[in-house]
Amino acid sequence: MEKLVDRKQAPDWVKSELDRICSILEKNMIRFKTNFPSACATNGKYRIKKNDDWTNGFWTGMLWMAYEYTGKETFKELAYENLKSFEKRLEEHFILDHHDIGFLYSLSVGAGYRILKEEHWKDVLLRAADVLVSRFQERGGFIQAWGKMGEEKEYRLIIDSLLNLPLLYRASELSHDPSYKEKAEIHYQNVIKNIVREDYSTYHTFYFNKETGLPDHGATHQGFSDQSCWARGQAWAILGMPLHARISGEGMSKEERELYEKIVEYFETHLPVDKMPYWDLIFMDGDQPRDSSALAIVACGMLEMKNEKRAKEMLLTLKELASSKVDPQSEGLLLHGVYAYAEGKGVDEPNLWGDYFYMEALCRIYDPEWEPYW
Ligand code: GLY
Repeated sequence: MEKLVDRKQAPDWVKSELDRICSILEKNMIRFKTNFPSACATNGKYRIKKNDDWTNGFWTGMLWMAYEYTGKETFKELAYENLKSFEKRLEEHFILDHHDIGFLYSLSVGAGYRILKEEHWKDVLLRAADVLVSRFQERGGFIQAWGKMGEEKEYRLIIDSLLNLPLLYRASELSHDPSYKEKAEIHYQNVIKNIVREDYSTYHTFYFNKETGLPDHGATHQGFSDQSCWARGQAWAILGMPLHARISGEGMSKEERELYEKIVEYFETHLPVDKMPYWDLIFMDGDQPRDSSALAIVACGMLEMKNEKRAKEMLLTLKELASSKVDPQSEGLLLHGVYAYAEGKGVDEPNLWGDYFYMEALCRIYDPEWEPYW
């Protein structure tokens, strides 16, 4: 096993946060056993769930990172049990009629394959990529995010999809079949062309005309309004674009880099004075809830861009304002996230992706040579 190595003497606070995180995960493992924590917490506690949501990969991904950081076999043993659950879910096609197959399988089976080097998991990963690619809509050229394929009210992509694409590039690399990455590339170009507004904010979702395949209109699903900028959506772009550049092997063209910098600038200039984003960037002060998970995702984007200085500042903001250190009862790693504000879901609570990206960013700083699982 390649253990994470403190190559450049990470700051003490990075190590102490990682140590703290691993002890919370150890406690959580005892409660969740081979089940999974729910997507978001309620009063700081996750519910015990089956492998049935879009978020289960974050839990397994954290177990793999904890294994690589500590070398403790208990993390590996449970992560391995999780892999069997992901394989069963795939066999039964259980709640997989959506595009979040990358979030689910890159961080669980993809990570497991990388760490264990067992060929079996490569096959499972490729089968997961088949499920994702089957959602590609030729008319329009995009991967349909949700719902029944071809349904008019669901004829759209969403910005979160950028994190599902690495699975397709990996699938082409592992299978030598270019069709996965060809579809991923068409989808990616369609995201970039349509979802970024003139002021460099982003729509959460974007519709295509079902009959003609032409771009139609942007809308929100989890943001404040169709014209506002959902903080996590902007964050998915800030991480998803450099991830695409690296994993696709395409890099970033000058034009794309300029666009990227403007998207980051929009995020940065819509932060409140304490630098912790509100759940929608339309808010810059007042008592609306914050979304710490958006900042954790952006910190990973900064690290993907090799901007360690800004990433560290963001992580320090998270540590000062949202680390669950202040609440020893919390099962989450990061307080003050928002899942879906309008539904009152996971508001001002930890959530699994906030925990995951906080830990991923800390691992990236701890060992700059470590490659995240995407
Ligand atoms: N991908 C769903 C979310 O960010 O809430």
